[in-house]
Amino acid sequence: QPPAINSTSVLDWYDRHARTLAWRVSPEARRQGVRPDPYRVWLSEVMLQQTTIGAATRYYLRFLELWPSVEALAAAPREAVLVEWAGLGYYARARNLHACAQVVVDEHQGVFPDNAAALMKLPGIGAYTSAAIAAICHDEPVAVLDGNVERVLARYLALETPVRDAKPLLRRELQRAVPARAGDFAQAMMDLGATICAPRTALCTLCPLQPDCCAAAQSEPTAYPVRPAK
Ligand code: ADE
Ligand code: SF4
Repeated sequence: QPPAINSTSVLDWYDRHARTLAWRVSPEARRQGVRPDPYRVWLSEVMLQQTTIGAATRYYLRFLELWPSVEALAAAPREAVLVEWAGLGYYARARNLHACAQVVVDEHQGVFPDNAAALMKLPGIGAYTSAAIAAICHDEPVAVLDGNVERVLARYLALETPVRDAKPLLRRELQRAVPARAGDFAQAMMDLGATICAPRTALCTLCPLQPDCCAAAQSEPTAYPVRPAK
């Protein structure tokens, strides 16, 4: 039986160490009832699949300045959206972004659906993005599993198989840990992957998962995730 993820410790760490990000509602503000704007969360999550936090922040702020609402983005000429997307790569993403804005305006009265299943039907929104938006904006208790979180979990469980062969297990283990503060928990796990349990370094002494972490109990946490044999 693998160790359970202690979401209380993770949230406690997040309350103290959450990164300040342009699209993020801080845990303190969130506790006071401030709700993240689904348009902003969606825009940031689509951009973050493409690039680093630093570059995504610049593009995000520029997009918000030009198109502060989903209605504004939907009404923009497609060419203008593609021009502003330049440098982010994968133009299909930009076309989907624009198409998604138009579907939200034309078919959902300008309101993003409030659950992952409905979000996933929109252009360009897949399993990751739908879960991220639903968790962050509505605290839907879903597992939000990106590459960084996969690495954290592979270490936590000292997973001896390559991540690509163990996604259902990782998803199941993450899912059973999701607390009521699902959005903060999702973002906490991503922040842990970015700042503590990073690709080349694991700062286990600072990590809220350390007490039960299987990799930390061994000598070399960065030996995980194991690489697939070619
Ligand atoms: N990477 C992608 N989405 C993120 C988020 N909401 N918080 C932190 N890192 C992220
Ligand atoms: Fe990663 Fe170390 Fe935390 Fe384990 S204890 S999750 S290896 S940083």
